[in-house]
Amino acid sequence: MLFHLIFMSLVCSGLSVESYGRDFITAFPENTVYYNPQESYNTLQITAFYNDTLVEITINYTKVFHDKLRSGQTKIVHFPKYNEQFQFTNFPLFARVNSTQKIVVLWLSQRGSSVQSNVVQPVTNLGKWYSIPFINYNQMMASLYNMSDQLAPDSWRYNSFRLIIINAENSDNLITVQSISPDGPKAFNITLRPYKLYQFQTNGSEIQLDSSGKVAVLLTHPCVETAGCDCNMVLSHVLPRNLWGDTFLVPSVKNLNTAWLQVTNTTEVRLKGVNIKTQQFNSSELIPFPELKSASQLISSTNKVSIRLISPGFVLELIPETMFAACYLVQMNSTEEICVA
Ligand SMILES: *[C@@H]1O[C@H](CO)[C@@H](O)[C@H](O)[C@H]1NC(C)=O
Ligand SMILES: *[C@@H]1O[C@H](CO)[C@@H](O)[C@H](O)[C@H]1NC(C)=O
Ligand SMILES: *[C@@H]1O[C@H](CO)[C@@H](O)[C@H](O)[C@H]1NC(C)=O
Ligand SMILES: *[C@@H]1O[C@H](CO)[C@@H](O)[C@H](O)[C@H]1NC(C)=O
Ligand SMILES: *[C@@H]1O[C@H](CO)[C@@H](O)[C@H](O)[C@H]1NC(C)=O
Ligand SMILES: *[C@@H]1O[C@H](CO)[C@@H](O)[C@H](O)[C@H]1NC(C)=O
Ligand SMILES: *[C@@H]1O[C@H](CO)[C@@H](O)[C@H](O)[C@H]1NC(C)=O
Ligand SMILES: *[C@@H]1O[C@H](CO)[C@@H](O)[C@H](O)[C@H]1NC(C)=O
Ligand SMILES: *[C@@H]1O[C@H](CO)[C@@H](O)[C@H](O)[C@H]1NC(C)=O
Repeated sequence: MLFHLIFMSLVCSGLSVESYGRDFITAFPENTVYYNPQESYNTLQITAFYNDTLVEITINYTKVFHDKLRSGQTKIVHFPKYNEQFQFTNFPLFARVNSTQKIVVLWLSQRGSSVQSNVVQPVTNLGKWYSIPFINYNQMMASLYNMSDQLAPDSWRYNSFRLIIINAENSDNLITVQSISPDGPKAFNITLRPYKLYQFQTNGSEIQLDSSGKVAVLLTHPCVETAGCDCNMVLSHVLPRNLWGDTFLVPSVKNLNTAWLQVTNTTEVRLKGVNIKTQQFNSSELIPFPELKSASQLISSTNKVSIRLISPGFVLELIPETMFAACYLVQMNSTEEICVA
């Protein structure tokens, strides 16, 4: 059965302490395929905390939104289909949001049944050093269908996860991209003009990014297979290394039958909750994570890591405990919202 999990780091009572700010940068990656005739729905939902908050959105250096928001007011701003970022290399369709006071920005993209949503991290939460592991989506689908990796449906497709890098600063930025694949390491440099964006395919390799200034990094795939043989867009705003943590809370998710964890860096991970496991993992390994249906899980690790929760149809970057206050808001499909303590 088709099912979407939209997971946000918004909390019930108030909002995640760290996820608001006055300056944000993001983009709308391709959802399914850009020439899909179905209506696309790309929005940013902006919520203000204070009265008289002036908010501005620019796309390709052109102001497309300018409005004053009241305390608690949310504006949903729709973006046309041509703002989707399907080209590789440089393309200027980044979306920059800035405001005179603190706001929260929620990102949502939907085309047909393919839905994704994310909380956009403010520029203050971005960094210069990112490590993006290879997501062995193929191995996950193969184990789900009891097949060998080679027989899994559409193996080639899952090597085509994409990265979008956006220069978050008003100055040129030199970025060194190092990819580590079975063929050995490879590196190339990119120079990004202020707020420019660069998209490339990861080709099944692990990526390390080093940049001279702050960048936003989006890990995305236009269409990964879901358990119901449908397809869903994946988008994950990657956390920089300075925001890695050693304690993560994953809420119980009733509809989630199968999930895996992926942990960057070799580390010892402890899963508390239903049972306790301590094990050594490395970043290319997918760790089966079956107990989410019955209880929320506390994950702790011996060193600072970033952790993704992966299931057919989504890749979710977990927010370390240091970054949130109370609970997550879990949206099971596009119309129903559930708040999990
Ligand atoms: C915001 O403005 C409204 C209407 O002018 C007022 O009722 C409200 O108290 C103000 N809120 C704050 C937090 O100042
Ligand atoms: C971005 O803006 C520049 C200059 O205003 C324009 O030449 C270019 O066509 C725009 N690009 C897109 C993709 O809209
Ligand atoms: C947004 O940033 C631009 C340029 O950096 C600045 O001119 C503008 O005043 C800012 N807008 C708001 C609402 O802060
Ligand atoms: C996969 O194989 C295992 C062990 O052989 C079996 O217990 C399980 O039911 C199988 N799952 C599916 C979906 O066929
Ligand atoms: C990238 O730039 C750095 C700093 O300028 C330089 O040391 C390095 O050799 C460059 N790497 C490549 C692959 O061009
Ligand atoms: C993946 O392959 C494409 C096409 O050959 C290339 O443009 C891109 O730079 C490669 N990505 C990496 C991380 O090497
Ligand atoms: C992995 O963790 C070890 C121990 O904390 C640390 O020394 C190393 O720099 C980390 N490597 C990466 C790539 O983060
Ligand atoms: C990482 O895990 C994979 C899969 O379990 C294994 O094949 C590989 O040898 C491990 N690498 C290291 C460096 O431990
Ligand atoms: C989505 O939510 C609506 C409204 O609550 C419900 O009627 C529908 O069955 C849900 N769909 C799925 C796939 O859970």
